[in-house]
Amino acid sequence: MKDLLTLLDLSAEQILEILDLADKLKECKYDGISHQKLKNKTLAMIFEKSSTRTRVSFEVGMFELGGQAIFLSSNDIQLGRGESVKDTARVLDRYVDGIMIRTYKQSDVEELAAYSRVPVINGLTDEFHPCQVLADLMTIREYFKTFKGLNACFIGDSYNMANSLIVGCLKMGMNFTLITPDASTLSPRVLEFVKDYPNFKITDNVLEGAKGAHVLFTDVWASMGHEKEVSSRKEKFKDFAITDEVMAVAAENAIIQHCLPAHKGEEISEEIFEAHAKEIFDEAENRLHAQKAVMVMLMSGGMKK
Ligand code: CP
Ligand code: NVA
Repeated sequence: MKDLLTLLDLSAEQILEILDLADKLKECKYDGISHQKLKNKTLAMIFEKSSTRTRVSFEVGMFELGGQAIFLSSNDIQLGRGESVKDTARVLDRYVDGIMIRTYKQSDVEELAAYSRVPVINGLTDEFHPCQVLADLMTIREYFKTFKGLNACFIGDSYNMANSLIVGCLKMGMNFTLITPDASTLSPRVLEFVKDYPNFKITDNVLEGAKGAHVLFTDVWASMGHEKEVSSRKEKFKDFAITDEVMAVAAENAIIQHCLPAHKGEEISEEIFEAHAKEIFDEAENRLHAQKAVMVMLMSGGMKK
C-alpha cells in the first residue's frame, strides 16, 4: 500500500501493524532510544485548513525520525492561486519523500495520490481523518488492552470524525452506535461499509445510544468550513452532547475521546472534559506516535499488502 487516504483502504491486520509499531516507537521515545528511520527524508505538509496537533505532531515526528518536514500553507504556495492538484503532485514528488495534506475535498487527496509517486497521507478532509482515528485506537487499546467486545458511541455531527471512527472501530471488532439527529450527512462510502456490520447502530436517543458505552467520542458541532452555520448548528445539536446524564448510563470505566479542539459548553461540558482530561490528552499525544508509525511504514519500504 502506497498511501493513507482513508481507513476504508486498510485491513484490520494493517491497522494493527501500525498500532503495534506506534506502541514500540512510544516506548522507545520514553526509554530515550531514538530511531532515525527516515534520516535525510523530507515530508511536505500542505495545509488548506488550520491545525495545531496535526502540524506539530507531523513536524516533530519527522524530526524525531531523523528527517525534516516543510510546512506549506495553501496561502503561500501556487495551489492557493489555482495551480492544479495534479501538477502540484508531479512537482513535489521530484523533491520530497512523502506528502501530507489537509484540505476540503477527499477527491483532491485522491488525485494528489494518483499523480504522486511518493506516499500521500490524509491529514483531514471533509470526509475522513484517518490519522486521528489511528491515535484514538492506540489510546483505546492502552486503556482497555483489547478492542473486542468494547462498546463505542459517537455523539454529534455525522462528519469526518464520525466517518473515520465508524470504520476504524468496526474494523477493530468494537460495537458502534452513532448518536446523531441527522445521519444523512455520513459519507456514502461509510453507509455502504456498515451494511456488513450488524453491530453498527444509528439512533437519535442519546441516553439509549450511550448505554453501556466504554468509549464515548464527540467532536465540534461546527467543523472547519462550517463557520457560517455556527448558530443553526447550535440549535440542531443542542441535545447531542456529553453530559452528566450521559456519563451516568455509560460503563463504569468509560473513557472519553475528543480529537480537539473542543468547544466546552457545547459538545462537552468543562467539568466532564476536565474529569477526562488524562485520556483526551493521551489521545492528543498519540497522534505523534501513530503518525511516526505511518510515516515509517509508508516512507521506508511501504506497508504489507
Ligand atoms: N485533531 C486535530 O486534527 O487537531 P488539529 O486541527 O489541531 O490538527
Ligand atoms: N470535525 C473537525 C475536526 C477537527 C480536527 C473539523 O473538521 O474541523
